[in-house]
Amino acid sequence: MIIANVVNCLFPFFPRMCLYLVLSVFLSITQAVDRSNFKTCDQSAFCSRQRALKPGQSSYRALLETLELSDSHLTVQLLNNNNKVLLLLELYRLQGNMTRVKINELKPIKPRYEVPDVLITDPPTELMSVVAQDEHRVVLSLGGEDWRLILSAQPFRLDIMEGPQVLLSLNSRGLLAFEQLRIRKDTISHKISSTVGSMWDKIKSVFSSKSQTDTEEAGEKEDTEKHDKEKVSEGEEEEAEEEVDQPGMWEETFKTHTDTKPNGPSSISLDFSLPGVEHVYGIPEHADGLRLKNTDGGDPYRLYNLDVFQYELFNPMALYGAVPVLLSHNTHRTMGLFWLNAAETWVDVSSGQGSSEVPQTDVRWISESGIIDVFIMLGPRPNDVFTQYASLTGTQAFPPLSSLAYHQCRWNYNDQEDVSAVDQGFDEHDIPYDFIWLDIEHTDGKRYFTWDNNKFPQPKDMLQGLLDKRRKMVTIVDPHIKVDSSYKIHTEIRSRGYYIKNKDGGDYEGWCWPGNAGYPDFTNPEMRKWWASMFAYDQYEGSMGNLYTWNDMNEPSVFNGPEVTMHKDALHGPWEHRDIHNLYGFYVQMATAEGQIQRSGGLERPFVLTRAFFAGSQRYGAVWTGDNAAEWGHLKMSIPMCLSLGLVGISFCGADVGGFFKTPSAELLVRWYQAGAYQPFFRAHAHLDTPRREPWLFGPDNTALIREAVRQRYTLLPYWYLQFYHSQRTGQPVMRPLWVEYPEDIATFSIDDEFLIGRDLLVHPVTDEGSSGVTAYLPGNGEVWYDVHTFQRHDGAQNLSIPVTMSSIPVFQRGGSIICRKNRVRRSSSCMENDPYTLYVALDSQGNAEGELYIDDGHTFKHETDKQFIHRRLSFTGNSLSSSDLSPDSQFPTASWVEQVNILGAQKPDAVTLTTTDGGESSVGFEFDPDTAVLTLRKPGVNAGVNWTLHLR
Ligand SMILES: *[C@@H]1O[C@H](CO)[C@@H](O)[C@H](O)[C@H]1NC(C)=O
Ligand SMILES: *[C@@H]1O[C@H](CO)[C@@H](O)[C@H](O)[C@H]1NC(C)=O
Ligand SMILES: *[C@@H]1O[C@H](CO)[C@@H](O)[C@H](O)[C@H]1NC(C)=O
Repeated sequence: MIIANVVNCLFPFFPRMCLYLVLSVFLSITQAVDRSNFKTCDQSAFCSRQRALKPGQSSYRALLETLELSDSHLTVQLLNNNNKVLLLLELYRLQGNMTRVKINELKPIKPRYEVPDVLITDPPTELMSVVAQDEHRVVLSLGGEDWRLILSAQPFRLDIMEGPQVLLSLNSRGLLAFEQLRIRKDTISHKISSTVGSMWDKIKSVFSSKSQTDTEEAGEKEDTEKHDKEKVSEGEEEEAEEEVDQPGMWEETFKTHTDTKPNGPSSISLDFSLPGVEHVYGIPEHADGLRLKNTDGGDPYRLYNLDVFQYELFNPMALYGAVPVLLSHNTHRTMGLFWLNAAETWVDVSSGQGSSEVPQTDVRWISESGIIDVFIMLGPRPNDVFTQYASLTGTQAFPPLSSLAYHQCRWNYNDQEDVSAVDQGFDEHDIPYDFIWLDIEHTDGKRYFTWDNNKFPQPKDMLQGLLDKRRKMVTIVDPHIKVDSSYKIHTEIRSRGYYIKNKDGGDYEGWCWPGNAGYPDFTNPEMRKWWASMFAYDQYEGSMGNLYTWNDMNEPSVFNGPEVTMHKDALHGPWEHRDIHNLYGFYVQMATAEGQIQRSGGLERPFVLTRAFFAGSQRYGAVWTGDNAAEWGHLKMSIPMCLSLGLVGISFCGADVGGFFKTPSAELLVRWYQAGAYQPFFRAHAHLDTPRREPWLFGPDNTALIREAVRQRYTLLPYWYLQFYHSQRTGQPVMRPLWVEYPEDIATFSIDDEFLIGRDLLVHPVTDEGSSGVTAYLPGNGEVWYDVHTFQRHDGAQNLSIPVTMSSIPVFQRGGSIICRKNRVRRSSSCMENDPYTLYVALDSQGNAEGELYIDDGHTFKHETDKQFIHRRLSFTGNSLSSSDLSPDSQFPTASWVEQVNILGAQKPDAVTLTTTDGGESSVGFEFDPDTAVLTLRKPGVNAGVNWTLHLR
């Protein structure tokens, strides 16, 4: 890439592009992230304005005389005592222990953005009733076990109570701040404002979106409410304070970029207090520990999707994606806050002592525009919060089975010969893989949906070659479109008017990989439909059914833009980019996944990887942690980064194995394969400038270690697949922090160097150079854990020191679980489709165990549409192991059978017999190893889809 662009630099067409590349090459040698490219809170006008407001008495008062209670919600006006502006508060009690709080201006001079498309439905409400009311407060019943909501009038505040206990308070620190839209006072800008106003009117009729309809309804309401407002204002004795414009309200310059703000200041802020809470999590994406830190002395956590070059660790700086969801946890309760706002957002976290020496965490959200729309998820258990959040934004898409296998990527595999040689290399070294990836160099001059004709003259031959081995490919399709009148994608987008517009109404252009590029407006449903149609086999020439997609640079990355992204005053129909920024990547992946589904006539599950994301992105595919580095710290960081994503619904997460920038030592590479083999998305990737690092290039010993790690992944694919099946149905994370399963064990609350996959596998990867041992915490009093390699049994709860060698991957199976593996590893997961299962039955202290097996075709939607799947319960109790049907009305023919059963923590039986539903009974051979207490049952030979019981006598 770099070499190619040095050549590009000889041409005068792309001077700035070259500058960027020369700079980035220079930077990659000299230092990590150039922090000065990115704003601190102090450098952001709205953040510093908001942060200057200190806790104290709120200037807001709830006008209880305006309170209206309908079946579904309550509304009441809030008056700002200082400037007399009225807000409208809406409260909803939602099904499943949730409360929604919306605050908007009662009468904005123009509509404020409300995030569409993220919620999967209009959340169903439940009846809210007034329990008590006087002139100071209203008490509402929230159902549950004595759950109430207290609305206090002056100062305005909300408290959610359980019995006498406050679970959570809003505006208890008085940090509600809502900058109302206004007309600029000096005349010149007044003109600008009215121009934009009339542009709004024009666009309004053309551009359709859900919030648009809401807005119009709000407009109709306006007239009747106007009257009320006047009444209130008359009744006030004090005059509204004159508001003084502050610097940065109407224009802001950062480095060389000026952000014109035709709408002026529009930021919002609200505080939440969580008494009794010391641990909070979530709000990815940050390269930081799992548990959120106090932001008192430094910057808040920032949520603003950015392409950060060589990001730093332990830092609240924004990264590629943003999910504005925060979880709180203590031994009694887990709760969640979902701040539905797609604008730039900063989150302050402050843990300390509240009143009466109870620990307390205070959280404050600040967003640049939009409205306050927050969902309070009351748990009480971690799983309840996951279910609640899933009911709002959906669950992880159930991926094709093969995408849970191993992916081989590099910037770049140079040409068809290279692809074929790498493919061959895996076979020669007996290492399985399922996907090989092509980065930007495969295209004709960074024109996505095309191929470089010299390097990839016969893409279909190449894809057919992979298909013959039951393997697949991914090509990159980025959202920056080369401005080139001979490029069909560009000319179509331009002629259909699908590009994002700049502030002056022309097509927005910025610099990215192809040089000058346009950015399609993915917020426009018509545009998304068109984009999806470009994945049809007759549109995307050279594509086939085993070709999938990678959406990179979709923050969006704009090399010459402010903070390497898009100007906030760019326009998406009537809205500014400022309003929708964090949603852009979400929509790119949505449209791409839709395209893959459509090209197969709705039959095949898509696989799309994205770098940028938002709440709800889990519905469209996988996410990776972006451009990390070949450093031990980045390997360690991959764990909390993916755990944080899992907590907020995005289970299909991984980090570039080996590290993207720089060159890993053989030891680091091996350790990364070992850790990556136990993380949801398992892909090796490397920067163009790094030496080649296919698994066999580091000598036979390291090849063997990597082979073993990858093979372990393949044997466990049935378990991974089952976890994703569950995740899609329930919203539970696949890779989980220990506290999710052991919510009362304080020792687990800050652990982020080990994790669980589902409930039953505990993994503590080796992430230190030269390590001779790790200490793993095995949780659960009375719980039993078995080392999956030695079958040695350990009791929980304990800190277990484990000596390690280069081949060690400390993994434990929970006693009480049954895990199905496929131990005959072949060259790809599809080749293993009909292979037999080996069951690992790990007995708990009572001698029982339970597990599940899920089987379907691995790639279509037929499990949904035609109930074509097998879902079975495996249960060991009273000395017999049986398989029963969990979904009797579904069916799927499988050739797979049960090859072996290993019972861990067993005793030696005298005889073992197998009975099947047809009345057949046969004896089964077995071996017992007294040293490990493992009983191995040889060849029960029964089909995996039928009822059977094995009796130990
Ligand atoms: C709601 O909370 C109650 C009481 O704490 C709990 O029993 C119930 O399971 C919760 N329901 C949901 C859907 O989370
Ligand atoms: C394990 O170690 C952690 C951290 O040092 C400690 O908090 C915990 O109490 C220990 N647990 C046991 C059971 O020894
Ligand atoms: C298998 O067991 C289930 C109950 O677990 C029963 O409903 C079903 O009829 C059985 N199938 C056969 C083929 O006997």
